[in-house]
Amino acid sequence: MDAMSKLSRNEVLTSHRQASLQGTFNVPGDKSISHRSLILGGLAVGITNVSGLLEGDDVMATANAMRALGVEITRTDTGAWQIIGVGLHGLVSPEQPLDLGNSGTGVRLLMGVVAGQPITATFTGDESLSVRPMARITDPLAKMGAKITSREGGLLPVTITGTATPLAADHSSKVASAQIKSAVLLAGLNARGTTIVTEPHASRDHSESMMRHFGASVSQDINADGSHRVTLAGEAELVAKDVLVPGDPSSSAFVMVAALISADSDITIPAVGMNPLRTGLITTLQEMGGNIEISNERIEGGEKIADIRVRHSKLTGIAVPPERAASMIDEYPVLSVAASVATGQTVMQGVAELRVKETDRIKVMADGLAMAGVTVTYDDNSMTVTGGAVKGGVSIASQHDHRIAMSFLTLGMVAEEPITVTGCETINTSFPGFADLINECGGAITAPEGE
Ligand code: S3P
Repeated sequence: MDAMSKLSRNEVLTSHRQASLQGTFNVPGDKSISHRSLILGGLAVGITNVSGLLEGDDVMATANAMRALGVEITRTDTGAWQIIGVGLHGLVSPEQPLDLGNSGTGVRLLMGVVAGQPITATFTGDESLSVRPMARITDPLAKMGAKITSREGGLLPVTITGTATPLAADHSSKVASAQIKSAVLLAGLNARGTTIVTEPHASRDHSESMMRHFGASVSQDINADGSHRVTLAGEAELVAKDVLVPGDPSSSAFVMVAALISADSDITIPAVGMNPLRTGLITTLQEMGGNIEISNERIEGGEKIADIRVRHSKLTGIAVPPERAASMIDEYPVLSVAASVATGQTVMQGVAELRVKETDRIKVMADGLAMAGVTVTYDDNSMTVTGGAVKGGVSIASQHDHRIAMSFLTLGMVAEEPITVTGCETINTSFPGFADLINECGGAITAPEGE
């Protein structure tokens, strides 16, 4: 076993208060971009080489699903991934159900793909994915002409028979969700007319950027009421092009918060994705007083990236504006950890979508923080954390949620008593090697003796 994967399959990890974090952290590739590179690479004509692909469980589930749909995907000796695209009409019906494990992005984007092809596929997932809402995806796809059956309540397993001639959609989504938007756009690639998706705020736009990178015609506009509109020309042709995956800002979030809250820390995270629709946490932490320096900003593979230097800082609570939620939706769990040691209150509003992530992240964070001695209040759409001393000395169940697991391991770094997290294997979905990387830079995350 190499050093990077020593602790990554451990179910139980304990995080201890530590000295400072120092050094350079290379975070793994962006999960959202990795999924999209496998999917769009498979739908393009020609060979796509992907470097920096996240080799986490979620992305590997998408790779396996694309293989089952007829795409050849291999990891080369250099660590790059090669995808032999079959074009927009070349997929085949898989022989077995497509099991996307824990991955909401994988299952939802692939539903869009299948809906726009004359093939049939059944989608399944783990315990967490099987209770997450799918009607928000299957309803618009059914309107585009796909035949869809699901378990009661629109839950997995879902079976989709797609069509070679999907109807172009004009879909207005109630929530800002890149997964909904991307599913409709992916089905729209084969539609005869123009597909339009409108969302209340802009969600991450990696699908739009990568579709353009592969040659599709996609535009993004802001409507007079502030809502965001994406327009895609149908009957697209995608041509293979290499993809460079930047470091995942959502993974760097844990490392950033860990350094901000641990005394005397000074760390650098190179080559992190800085797409403005993903950087809400950096803005928020800077407003809280976090010493975060962004340097060496550049464009690589069509995405903005930069190096991030983070030093221990005294943080003060703020009210995070609700319109920022889409740009940091996955970062609220770890923001609530930073808020636990900040002076005063941090108010997070407009966060109802957190309830339908891998777990109900408002409730699971609030309950766990309260157990660790932090003062938290919450309702369906908001959470308020009052900072202070963190007692710790608790055991928290990840509930199949990687971000819950990493958030509480981060909290353990400053708690008076260690914090244990069970179900830590879920971290492998997005950040294999998290605990080892933290330890290499001065952290103290341990597995039970004998493991
Ligand atoms: C993602 C979109 C977001 C995010 C998820 C990744 C994506 O979900 O929470 O981790 O890659 O499209 P929603 O689209 O449900 O907001």
